[in-house]
Parts: sequence; C-alpha cells; structure tokens
Amino acid sequence: MFSTLILWSLFVISASGSKCDGANCNVNSRIVQGQISEQNVRPYQIALYSRVGTTGELGFCGGSLLSQEWLVTAAHCCFHNGDQVDHVQAILGAHSLYDRYENGRRVLNVAEVVVHPAYDASTFANDIALLRLANVVQITDTVQPVQLPYRSIATHNFAGFAATVSGWGIAADGAPYVSPLLRQKQMTVITDPLCNRSLFNQLTEHVICGSHESGGTCKGDNGGPMTIVQNEIDILVGVASFVSANGCNTNMPSVFTRVQRYLDWISEVTGVPILD
Ligand SMILES: *[C@@H]1O[C@H](CO)[C@@H](O)[C@H](O)[C@H]1NC(C)=O
Repeated sequence: MFSTLILWSLFVISASGSKCDGANCNVNSRIVQGQISEQNVRPYQIALYSRVGTTGELGFCGGSLLSQEWLVTAAHCCFHNGDQVDHVQAILGAHSLYDRYENGRRVLNVAEVVVHPAYDASTFANDIALLRLANVVQITDTVQPVQLPYRSIATHNFAGFAATVSGWGIAADGAPYVSPLLRQKQMTVITDPLCNRSLFNQLTEHVICGSHESGGTCKGDNGGPMTIVQNEIDILVGVASFVSANGCNTNMPSVFTRVQRYLDWISEVTGVPILD
C-alpha cells in the first residue's frame, strides 16, 4: 500500500565520506536547488553516523539538538534492516562535513536511543526518535539547542508559513555522496489534505508537509530540521521523514514528522520544558 512513498531508510555510505572532497563533489546537486548555508546559522543541526554493531554498514542522517544532552531525529534513522542501531556518533557544530579540524565542531557518542513507542515502519507513522549523548555538550556559538514549538502555537497547522529545511543529504537521486557543506532550502508549509492528495492519500497523522518547486529533501537529510521563524527565533516544527518514491528531484511535497504533536513525550523523555 505504501509502495509509492519512500522512507529513505538509512542512507548507507560506503566509507567515512572522505571520498567526497573538493571538486569531486557536485555541490550544486544536493538538497535540490538548495543553497549552501552560511556557516553555523543552524547551530542545532547535527550529522549522525550510525551502525548496528561495530562493523555494520554505516548510515547517515540529520538531527537537531534539543538540550545539552538530547537530540531528535527520525525513528527510521535508528534502524538498519530491521535492527536498531547501537553505535551512533553525533557531529555537532559542523558545516563542512568532512573537515575534521573545523573550528567549533564537537563529536560525541550517543549513549541511548529512544524510538517513539508508536513508530510503525510499515506506515511511517510517528517517525521520531530521541537520542541521548554520552556526554553533556557545551553550548557555544556553533552548538545550540533549537526551540521546540510553544504550547500557544501547538495547535496551529502553519499552512502558508515559510519554512527552512537543512541537511547534508544528496538531492540528486543516485548521487553517491553526501554534500560536503550544509545546505538549506526554503519550503512553504501546505495543508494536510493538499499534501495527502499529492501523495496518493497515503499520509498518516501527525505530519507536516513542505512544498517546493523542484526538489526537496533527499537521502541523508532525513531526521534533520524543518524550522519556521517567530520573533527571530527558529522553531523546530518538523523532522524530515520521507518523500515520494518518484524521488527527490520532483515537485512533490517532502514529508516531516510534526513535532508539535510530540511535545509531551519529548519533554517526558528529555526533561526539556515546553514553554507556553
Ligand atoms: C489521507 O487520506 C486518507 C484517505 O482518505 C485518510 O484515511 C487519511 O486519514 C488522510 N491523512 C491525513 C493526514 O489527513
């Protein structure tokens, strides 16, 4: 039934990513039509490398920092061939993914993976997970938590809002590498019914869709942030979940888990307070 949608389950890259340096990467083809973000304008953006065991295939996803200890990503980023990943490394404060010596970057292991109890891999429902870092991370210019939606806006549908999505994911279907530099793209939030119609009426509840003219999120962007701006503060409204099986280079909406529906669970697990 869901064969027309694709959950980019773990984007498996062949090595540590060092193959993608400089001119060998076509940076114009990542997050389709997106732009390279200014350095550290999204200080909550996280890159996640994960595997099952110490020798399993390496997966890549995005995430967002919620506090000094917790981050949020997509549930499907936590599984590989049905097994839950247990070796996850989080890269915080990064811009140029493969530059190990970049200023302001922190690399931390993940100590605990909490997948939403109602996550359903067959329908993509509740595609959200919380990861606890093995060490508390210091907040700096380059590493900062993102603001969760306030209670006062938790019932808004945000339709028509301009939203920003970001990631190192590849936008071109079949492109072999993740983007070396963090990219971002503007989308417009659309209503659930409109999104549902565009995606063959297969949309589950608790999602938020972003429309864009050509190309949306892609492999490797998943788990990453969709934000809106209120009073000059970025608010995390979505976690990148899936796109149509037609691929990334289409004008079909990208689908995100709607964060505002999970505030109580997030707060319970992470201890992050939800503001009014
Ligand atoms: C999408 O459409 C289907 C079929 O009408 C419906 O069952 C489902 O609840 C809809 N999803 C959303 C999020 O509205």
